[in-house]
Amino acid sequence: MRVRFKLNGTLVEVEVEPHETLLNVLRDGLKIKSVKYGCGVGECGACTVILDGRPVTSCLVMAAKVDGSEVLTPDYIARTELGKRVVDAMLDEGAIQCGYCSPGFLTTIYAAILKGIRDPEAMKRALLGNLCRCTGYVNIMKAVKRLLESL
Ligand code: FES
Ligand code: FES
Repeated sequence: MRVRFKLNGTLVEVEVEPHETLLNVLRDGLKIKSVKYGCGVGECGACTVILDGRPVTSCLVMAAKVDGSEVLTPDYIARTELGKRVVDAMLDEGAIQCGYCSPGFLTTIYAAILKGIRDPEAMKRALLGNLCRCTGYVNIMKAVKRLLESL
């Protein structure tokens, strides 16, 4: 079936299979490699994108369902003014090691700030679905604190 949606501000039209996930379509069909494949079952947050203003794990979203929607991916978010500030805070605090989880963290933090979250504890709750195997989360939370204080 054909699906049309707005991807990072541009209307795209793709042919998808009924069983295909948004993650598959973004990575394999549209070559958006900033969206990471981690667990594939909604548990790690590596594949997080913003769908109609809300962060979602794209491995759990059927591609057919995004017809008429708006999707933002981490590479686009990283180029926005706010996205750059999130990335800078993460770099400044050493919150990125292997970097595999980082696009998901960026996306969730960006969405949470746009939603109005300014409290580190609330941000911690927003990030519960994002896992990092490297940092132990300490530097990520330092980056979050630094960022929220600067807003
Ligand atoms: S790959 Fe989607 S949550 Fe892990
Ligand atoms: S920096 Fe490696 S998984 Fe988070």
